[in-house]
Amino acid sequence: MKQYFQLFLCFGIVLSVLSSCSEKPQTSVSSPDGAIEIRFDLSETGQPMYMVTHNGKTVIDTSYLSIDFKDLPSLKDGFEILTADLKTIESSWEMPWGEQAVVENNYNELTINLQETIENGRKLTIRYRVYDDGLGFRYEIPSAEGVSEVLITDENTQFNLSGDHRVWWQPGDWDIYEHLYNETLFSEIDALSKLDHPNLIATHIPENAVNTPVTMKTDEGLYLSFHEADLTDYAGITLKVNPETFEMESELVGSERLGGKAKVKLPFNTPWRTIQIEEDAGDLIESKMILNLNEPNAIGDVSYFTPMKYVGIWWEMHLGKSTWDMEGSQDMNTFIEGQQGSSRHGATTANAKRYIDFAAANNIKGLLVEGWNTGWDQWINSEDREGVFDFMTPYPDYNFKEVMAYAKEKGVEVIMHHETSAAPRTYEKQMNEAYDFMKSNGMNSVKTGYVGKIIPEGEYHHGQWMVNHYQKVLTEAAAKKIAINAHEPIMATGKRRTYPNAIAREGLRGQEFNAWATDGGNPPEHLSTIAFTRMLAGPIDFTPGVFNIKFDEFKPNNQVNTTLAHQLALYVVIYSPIQMACDLPEHYMKDGEIHPAFKFISDVGVDWDMTKVLNAEIADHVVIARKEKGSGNWFLGGITDENARDLKINFDFLEEGDTFSATIYKDAPDSHYNNNPEAYVIENMDVNSNTEIDIKLAAGGGFAISLHRK
Ligand code: NOJ
Ligand code: CA
Repeated sequence: MKQYFQLFLCFGIVLSVLSSCSEKPQTSVSSPDGAIEIRFDLSETGQPMYMVTHNGKTVIDTSYLSIDFKDLPSLKDGFEILTADLKTIESSWEMPWGEQAVVENNYNELTINLQETIENGRKLTIRYRVYDDGLGFRYEIPSAEGVSEVLITDENTQFNLSGDHRVWWQPGDWDIYEHLYNETLFSEIDALSKLDHPNLIATHIPENAVNTPVTMKTDEGLYLSFHEADLTDYAGITLKVNPETFEMESELVGSERLGGKAKVKLPFNTPWRTIQIEEDAGDLIESKMILNLNEPNAIGDVSYFTPMKYVGIWWEMHLGKSTWDMEGSQDMNTFIEGQQGSSRHGATTANAKRYIDFAAANNIKGLLVEGWNTGWDQWINSEDREGVFDFMTPYPDYNFKEVMAYAKEKGVEVIMHHETSAAPRTYEKQMNEAYDFMKSNGMNSVKTGYVGKIIPEGEYHHGQWMVNHYQKVLTEAAAKKIAINAHEPIMATGKRRTYPNAIAREGLRGQEFNAWATDGGNPPEHLSTIAFTRMLAGPIDFTPGVFNIKFDEFKPNNQVNTTLAHQLALYVVIYSPIQMACDLPEHYMKDGEIHPAFKFISDVGVDWDMTKVLNAEIADHVVIARKEKGSGNWFLGGITDENARDLKINFDFLEEGDTFSATIYKDAPDSHYNNNPEAYVIENMDVNSNTEIDIKLAAGGGFAISLHRK
């Protein structure tokens, strides 16, 4: 296959050399630093194809492109190249909140305009952008006479890998991204072995495919990650795997209601198909290519949202200490005054005040309250979840106004919660009023949720219909100045650049699995893998901060598989502009005082000027340093997998001449995620750009460092 492509290219070159007027336009483009090159051409049958090299070595071998439609011939063969245009862009933009203040956006663009050679041939544009950290390309289908809308039945975008790479993958589930990542050779990927996980209510894996981002390491030590950017009015992507040929091909999430993958109005641009290419694993994390491939901010000022840490009436429900619904025997319509608090209901007025007091005393700005509104009694178990949740009616033992007034008095912002139970039509009906209700009560952000199989049947969480729902939520919320933290979301594809009210999302196995998963919870290496896979897509509401690691009082058979210091490190390692301190207030207290290690959570920043990955290997360990916006203080977090390891931390990223007082929170010599997870040590020292320290990370351990400018 590769040889064929090269022969064909040579033929092209010979032709252009032989002919005095260069008939064949240049159809290759390189990254600004010259390391990555894309070569585009047409096959003998006139089918678009491309290949990618890095420092002259093949990364993507000859790979073909085509799109199939219902009731129309495929856009596939019989093309000729009309024009190929090259352009260079150098620009930068500012993030309203993020991992860094300014993002450089430098790339070379190759636009290939094609037309079918038959009479009245249809046109198609394929646009490539190549950056120093990878590339993206998309199809642009122009409007055509007599055709205003098409039903895409398949997009066949190939990625022909150059070998049997090591891959960190999760199954191409159409409904959920909450599978563990697996590490295997490409030839060993077997997504169908992941069917029917007992803890996943909605899951659909139709074939041997993977979800994106999917990250790989080649034998030569090159890192690749495949994903998509700017997913708009289209179906999410999965990548079908051919273990024998090392080929991947796009398989869009389908819709049985639609009888295809995506119905689109012409003209239409598909999302960008992206490949990040890096020599260091850490550079994958620093790459902003996926954001750069999205459109600039379309909603203006988002200062109504302030990055923050928050506590929540949340972990207690996952532990089984309390319930979302009011349980007991009361019929909600005949609730009897005086019985407030007699159930195990978590969201009571008194409990909310308890959390507010804790937040106010410990520099935590936000409070999430789940289970505040009616409908939870019919939540997961109900077959018909349409019309069940009410996003404006509090349970009678939760005095909404009183809690809001108390929070305001204490300077705490309450975060709204809307569990839709995967009934988006019910949510869309109430959305407008619900957002007005929020705003009139001083609430600026909402955590949404989509647990369960999508109603109506035949739609999936990652299909076009839901992509459009999630977008509608963002757009309507933006109009009301509300920020969205979506759980059971569509994967992030960098849209936070365009809609910076998309503050965070779940889209992974979160902390919650440690409370109840029947498979032993998240393994110690979970987040050392997430940092190089899921996190490449965007901010994660992982909800770190468990201090009571074993919680035997509630769940003797479950635990968190990390040390306490590892939990602290996550505030830096896992990026999100909102970070939960998820444990119960009582678990953050020690001998009547706030736990000494909580100081790190109180202090740590949530909005950054700069991010640097200091030390990284996928699924092994990662150390990240971030400089806080405003204060100029730095925070470091480092985590390891199930293996203890010694890491050297070099502070040469600090500016010369600056001195910082460092507080180091680390594993004790005998810490271990299973045998002694809560042991920790706190040390203080001064550091500057010449400082180097050795830190020992326990099995499943980590460390966190705050650096306050002196
Ligand atoms: C699943 C979410 O991930 C979790 O955070 C939330 O508590 C439950 N749904 C209830 O909405
Ligand atoms: Ca979830």
